[in-house]
Amino acid sequence: MRPISRLSAVLILALLSAGAERSAAVDGEMKARIRVNAGKVVTEVNPMIYGHFIEHLGKCIRDGLWTPGARGHELVLGGVRRDVFQAISELQIPLLRWPGGCFADGYHWRDGIGQTHLRPVRKNQAWGGQEDNLFGTDEFLKLCAELGIEPLINVNLGSGTAEEAREWVEYVNAPADTPPGSLRARNGRPAPYRVRYWGIGNESWGAHEIGSFRRGRDYAEKYLSFHRAMKQADPAIKVMAVGALPPLIDWNKEVLEAAADSIDFLSLHIYFPSFIFPRKYKKKEDMYYGIVASGRKLEELLEQFDADIRRYGGKNPDIRIALDEWNLWWDGQQIIRAEDYELSSALFTADVLARLQRWSDRVAFANFAQLVNVLGAIITDENSLFLTPSYLSFLLFRRHSGELLVESSTDGPVFRNLEFGIVPPMSDNPLVECSATLDAAGGKLSLIVINKHYDKPVETEIGIAGFPRAGAASVWEINGDSPHAMNSFAEPDAVRIVEKTAVVSSDPFIYTLPPHSVTAIVLTRDNRRE
Ligand code: AHR
Repeated sequence: MRPISRLSAVLILALLSAGAERSAAVDGEMKARIRVNAGKVVTEVNPMIYGHFIEHLGKCIRDGLWTPGARGHELVLGGVRRDVFQAISELQIPLLRWPGGCFADGYHWRDGIGQTHLRPVRKNQAWGGQEDNLFGTDEFLKLCAELGIEPLINVNLGSGTAEEAREWVEYVNAPADTPPGSLRARNGRPAPYRVRYWGIGNESWGAHEIGSFRRGRDYAEKYLSFHRAMKQADPAIKVMAVGALPPLIDWNKEVLEAAADSIDFLSLHIYFPSFIFPRKYKKKEDMYYGIVASGRKLEELLEQFDADIRRYGGKNPDIRIALDEWNLWWDGQQIIRAEDYELSSALFTADVLARLQRWSDRVAFANFAQLVNVLGAIITDENSLFLTPSYLSFLLFRRHSGELLVESSTDGPVFRNLEFGIVPPMSDNPLVECSATLDAAGGKLSLIVINKHYDKPVETEIGIAGFPRAGAASVWEINGDSPHAMNSFAEPDAVRIVEKTAVVSSDPFIYTLPPHSVTAIVLTRDNRRE
């Protein structure tokens, strides 16, 4: 036989490795082991990780969240349909960011206050189309007050001035007997809103942004002038500056070196696969595994970002991460179509929330982008709405996950994903992920467990220490008939939460996690068994 040349060997190797990469795969027996020590609290869960975001973009606010005059609907606060209001209130949102996003850097807040028929219609500078300004500061803050939500307002650094930002803080937070406070009172709200969280600019490093900067230090200079002015209006406010991810390696360094003393939070935005279009996969399964592997990459980015804060924010050890936009967004369009969100997005969302629980001390808050119609959680048309798989994961966490994260570990099979935008191929992703939490009173232990397998169940042995329990558990499972199930107006419950019970009396007990599922298993303390 003729020996193969070096070139042929390289070619063969390249072909073989390309072949090996051609599909995502799962290794190992479909059996996993979870161990929970309920006696060991790892951290208090920061409830602010469950925040959301609304922007004047597409039908997020107008014709989605805010529909004054909608026919055939009862309206809350004069503009929110009762069904939309109800869907939002179910999420028990701790923090809501507004008015953008890119929109914020072209927004002048005075356009959106006072009598609605006098408000100007302007061009939406960031996204095109018209902005009628019917949903402005008072509408946003009254909605937040009604729902018990903490507001986060992003001021306009791009085309606005420090003076304008100062006056916005005054309008919102000054006592009624001051000129800005009395203007607010004339607009129907005498008591100050006491808005604590403010952002200055949005993605100011990007050429897509109104008034962007090439250098972090130039942004920092303008940021500092805004910060000074806004703090004069209300020294109690907490302020977020714009941060960046690689390849913008000098941005955080320059911003932090110039302004660390005046920064409470550094903003980080993460969308997967982050505008690098995912390759055209041969099998839908490969895209699925790319999506469910993304949470791991998100955590890696948090680590890098946190390292920047610690390295360059030395003068101010209190700066924390604001993950004020995150989600999947893979077609690069302005407004993703809701039908792009398959069941895998519920697994992605649950995975990210479970990871953010572990980041409770470093992530000050996180905002899922966006709440209504845009990259959406709630999708509306003129008549009704449906809830996306991501929404259902938020619901599961808000209803069943507790206030205290306890120690847990998971062993089991792993999967390999292919490259998915900025998510590299990784061969050792755990198939089963678990968040274990206790409620504040210690009476409920909640396990939220994800089985990322595309089509196989995983038999899971669950051992629990430090929590004497009743013999049955309540179970809520997010699932659908296929890994590609998605909700729509025609089929709003194709992906749904189903309630079950489970026998958990043996120790350890076995629970078989269905394929492509997120399951909350809630155990009740039984002190007689102590
Ligand atoms: O959420 C949509 C857009 O994505 C936001 O306006 C912007 O901040 C990000 O690029």
